[in-house]
Amino acid sequence: MSEYNIEVHTYDVVVVGAGGSGLRATLGMAEQGLRTACVTKVFPTRSHTVAAQGGIAASLSNMGPDHWQWHMYDTVKGSDWLGDTDAMEYLAREAPKAVYELEHYGVPFSRTEDGKIYQRPFGGHTTEFGEGPPVQRTCAAADRTGHAILHTLYGRSLKEKAEFYIEYFATDLLMDEDGRCTGILAWKLDDGTLHQFNAKMVVLATGGYGRAYFSATSAHTCTGDGNGMIARAGLPLQDMEFVQFHPTGIYGAGCLITEGARGEGGYLTNSEGERFMERYAPTYKDLASRDVVSRCMTMEIREGRGVGPNKDHIHLHLNHLPPETLHLRLPGISESARIFAGVDVNKEPIPVLPTVHYNMGGIPTNYWGEVLNADAENPDRIAPGLMAVGEAACASVHGANRLGSNSLIDLVVFGRAAAIRAGQVIDPEAANPPTSKASVEAALDRFDRIRNANGAVPTADLRLEMQKTMQADAAVFRTDKTLAEGCQKMAEVAAKLGDIKVTDRSLIWNSDLMETLELENLMPNALTTIVSAEARKESRGAHAHEDYPDRDDTNWRKHTLSWVEGNAVRLDYRPVVTDPLTKPDEGGIDPKKIAPKARVY
Ligand code: FUM
Repeated sequence: MSEYNIEVHTYDVVVVGAGGSGLRATLGMAEQGLRTACVTKVFPTRSHTVAAQGGIAASLSNMGPDHWQWHMYDTVKGSDWLGDTDAMEYLAREAPKAVYELEHYGVPFSRTEDGKIYQRPFGGHTTEFGEGPPVQRTCAAADRTGHAILHTLYGRSLKEKAEFYIEYFATDLLMDEDGRCTGILAWKLDDGTLHQFNAKMVVLATGGYGRAYFSATSAHTCTGDGNGMIARAGLPLQDMEFVQFHPTGIYGAGCLITEGARGEGGYLTNSEGERFMERYAPTYKDLASRDVVSRCMTMEIREGRGVGPNKDHIHLHLNHLPPETLHLRLPGISESARIFAGVDVNKEPIPVLPTVHYNMGGIPTNYWGEVLNADAENPDRIAPGLMAVGEAACASVHGANRLGSNSLIDLVVFGRAAAIRAGQVIDPEAANPPTSKASVEAALDRFDRIRNANGAVPTADLRLEMQKTMQADAAVFRTDKTLAEGCQKMAEVAAKLGDIKVTDRSLIWNSDLMETLELENLMPNALTTIVSAEARKESRGAHAHEDYPDRDDTNWRKHTLSWVEGNAVRLDYRPVVTDPLTKPDEGGIDPKKIAPKARVY
């Protein structure tokens, strides 16, 4: 066994990650008196939620009629009928409560004239079960909604005496012989010490893996660390083929320009100055669901109607909007456009391009956040001692495509749900389950092996190779050929991890080691994404397969499960949950309303 001294900490709950879902879970756990630690590799308010701009969806009806059932319908349709119906009902029904809680915690939402929370339109959010006009459902704090939520939740968590371990990198789950998670191993970045956190419940809130791609709106820290830990523990990931491209990343830089820009009246044009979305989505136009808008933009570019000298991007116009609107509602993106595109939004259009933004897939959970050790025979089997929330998790509330502003609400609704569930299943008086010595040794050995890796391939080179492969072969549009080539290339790329070179052997602020640990987490995410995509012979949501352009509910309305075994991926499937939680005669949605049908906007 490797010779490292380990400091041991014991809690009821250890939350890994301090973004919106991690903080909401931490706060909810601590409020109930559970001894709660939050372990995070970045300072909490630097978590990627801070970059969430446009807002958080909830049917508050502040700007006009709305209903949670309309929100649920839109989410079902947005998911292209791959979302789990129980989770989607839970999200839409609990959303108003979760937003009012945020308001009471102190989130500084923008306000209407009469003092209510301001709400704006967002893509795919409609009225009357998709038959009425767009709805203003997205609650906003200007275009800095994630920033506002994150700061408030961190402050409230401190008030509730949650304990924070900041700039600690969680390396592995500690699993016992019976498959129970009993804690994590973490490396403290600023002094090099190692820490064993024992917990009755570990909550993975580690975010997405956008950085498996070359161009992403995600922060460089979005390396799918929780998903990597799950894969190494022999547990499945789910629906990894569904990767969302946001229509409006700034061309070149990749930074997000919020969909709220189109919600406030912005529109897209091609090289002919045409508002082309009117052709593709005659009813909702620029406010169609974002997978649809991203595909239409890509088609315009492919057909030679892109803008710029290389005709390889699209224009987003805000220059017709009143300067007061830009100043009041969209100050952040006005600044981003100036800094990253050199554009004054009052005068010129912003150059934009569909950019990787969100992972619908992740760690399978039920709608309480409990991780599922699922397979075809045991689709609902729970992995004891483990929860996952936020973008790391696949509840599955977004199915094949997430609606804009359903992410922030996912974070707080399911962070809150995990805390409620933990309050039911954790006995604060009981002793912690014993930690398997073998699991600690295995985690230490892996850490030591990577720290001393002395191969021929620098981490940055291998990461770039992975990112370029994913960008080229698991893109907005996919074909049998690109996916098969992508699987082949990714297997070769993953194999090179065995020849990785870490130059810096120290333990203090060793970014070389940290980036290598992150790359070891990104790799299973990338592998499962491309292999799951290659296997799915249909088009659904964000998975647009040119050789199978139609959705095939008979054969493919099912969740993909994927396990990483060496550098190979094994697949299995589990059924989609189709029953709502509430019966129609008890106020629930009429199941006929959410039966699968063609998805048009
Ligand atoms: O466009 C945006 O503001 C992004 C929101 C989201 O991904 O939910």
